[in-house]
Amino acid sequence: MKRIAIFASGTGSNARKIVEHFSSHDDVAVSLIVSNKSKAKVLEMAQSHGIKRLIIDRPYFYESEEIVSLLKEKKIDLIVLAGFLWLVPKYLVQAFPNRIVNIHPALLPKFGGKGMYGMNVHRAVKEAGEKESGLTIHFVNENYDEGGYIFKAACQINDSDSPEEIAAKILKMEHKYFPKVVERVLRNGEKISS
Ligand code: GRF
Repeated sequence: MKRIAIFASGTGSNARKIVEHFSSHDDVAVSLIVSNKSKAKVLEMAQSHGIKRLIIDRPYFYESEEIVSLLKEKKIDLIVLAGFLWLVPKYLVQAFPNRIVNIHPALLPKFGGKGMYGMNVHRAVKEAGEKESGLTIHFVNENYDEGGYIFKAACQINDSDSPEEIAAKILKMEHKYFPKVVERVLRNGEKISS
């Protein structure tokens, strides 16, 4: 059995897609959903699927390393960041080498880094007059939106597209690809490297 922990700060539409994807798999389970926001919608989704939840605060995440023992106790194989806005601390990256993945709604290394989240990304893409954008799924290191790339998918941007339309286009692609790529990382184990 392979076990996934999803970290998310917001709506959790990607988290939901991953949960739904693996609900028909006997050998993979989403065992835990971690959030830094006690009112995040993703926690409601976790509850409705009977998935254990953990709400974290800054001292717990940045001043203790307790989450590592918890994740190990729960035999978590892979941590999936799906709209998780806090920087992952070094101790956690080191405890799960090549075992933390993130999805970013742009073609990294463009439009990544601190402050590049949510609509900020799509507004910046629009302002730069980009002809394409897309998504990047990558391993996580201790810097925002860095770490080896695992998968990218691009989409065309028309001059008439608003940042909201770009966001919607990319979110749809995220839902299509993210669960499959997570499955690939889980099944290929150590063979995938950054
Ligand atoms: C996604 O666009 C993802 O790329 C980014 O955060 C967003 C999360 O959306 N990291 P949702 O909460 O899964 O709807």
